[in-house]
Amino acid sequence: FSDFLTDSFHRQHDYLRISITERCNLRCLYCMPEEGVPLSPPAHLLTTPEIVYLSSLFVSQGVTKIRLTGGEPTVRRDVVPLMQSIGSLRAKGLRELALTTNGISLHRKLDSMVEAGLTGVNLSLDTLDPFQFQIMTRRKGFDAVMKCIDRILEMKKLGANLKLKVNCVVMRGLNERDIVPFVELGREKDLEVRFIEYMPFGGNKWSEGKMISFQEMLDIIRVKYPGLRSVPGHKNDTSKTFEVPGFVGKVGFITSMTSDFCGTCNRLRITGDGNLKVCLHGNDEVSLRDLLRKDNSGEPIDQEAFERIKQIEMDRREGILSDDTTLGWGERERELLEVIG
Ligand code: GTP
Ligand code: 5AD
Ligand code: SF4
Repeated sequence: FSDFLTDSFHRQHDYLRISITERCNLRCLYCMPEEGVPLSPPAHLLTTPEIVYLSSLFVSQGVTKIRLTGGEPTVRRDVVPLMQSIGSLRAKGLRELALTTNGISLHRKLDSMVEAGLTGVNLSLDTLDPFQFQIMTRRKGFDAVMKCIDRILEMKKLGANLKLKVNCVVMRGLNERDIVPFVELGREKDLEVRFIEYMPFGGNKWSEGKMISFQEMLDIIRVKYPGLRSVPGHKNDTSKTFEVPGFVGKVGFITSMTSDFCGTCNRLRITGDGNLKVCLHGNDEVSLRDLLRKDNSGEPIDQEAFERIKQIEMDRREGILSDDTTLGWGERERELLEVIG
């Protein structure tokens, strides 16, 4: 395993998240304002060959999982050819190729993506009520998302190697009534519903009162499903996994507000404008784009970049050791939005 992707905590950074667009076709209340978010000038964004090049570079250095995110990744016009190119890195050691999407425009691209090597979809859906969907996303599209879920499950039944997780951000007064119906989905459906604690960013007018904690979600679910029990998850999961005995699906919780998972984090992140970030909480980043475009030489990234990445790792270690690792949310809102998006 390449040394530069292993940090001083011996965490191997074998999971790369790449934001392939800043744009989105929804306006979720908890994510962005109605008018959207300021976008980078197009020339600042990574081109498709640059994204493919960086993917292959990181795979050559030991990355085994790549997740494409946004904004909404499916609004990038060439998302399918891009995925085909990244998918071909399976021959070089890539094992998982995943997508975080709202599912609105995924349906017609899904088959070719799976053919290209897509192995996992994390689908953002916060309610099972079409009217509530329109309130929370400020857009229409509920039926398209449900159709997409059905198609994924159908493809799985037909033997596709495709994991489905549904991400549900829970907000008091908006969708806590959906918690139980979401759990119920898992009775017959082979998917994991993950409830996410509502986090502050993107000018989303966060308040503690609107956040429903992991513990409160557990209490709500256990009224209806007293058998809900914890099951071991995977080593680098950001979520805690649970199951209801007898259900096909699983239930997960992303508890970013009430606990942190820095110790097991194995992620690297590339933003739409080509910055590498090692930590959501850290301040340091390195512009891979500038390194790629340096002198316009088209030369591969060199040792200098690897040294910078190593340095960021050191900074991150200090960040984790200091006790302000959970303070980053408010201050670095825009960056966070893009990094987790
Ligand atoms: P898999 O583990 O591969 O399924 O993906 P994921 O859960 O990391 O990715 P996804 O895009 O589905 O993101 C779900 C949520 O995880 C996001 O809303 C964030 O809240 C959270 N998240 C992802 N990575 C990090 C991280 O490094 N730190 C924190 N605090 N939250 C993260
Ligand atoms: N709090 C928690 N999760 C959020 N997401 C977007 N904004 C927030 C927020 N304020 C989630 C989306 C998506 C995932 C990548 O991040 O629902 O599923
Ligand atoms: Fe778009 Fe995802 Fe933000 Fe919703 S949460 S507005 S789908 S980027």
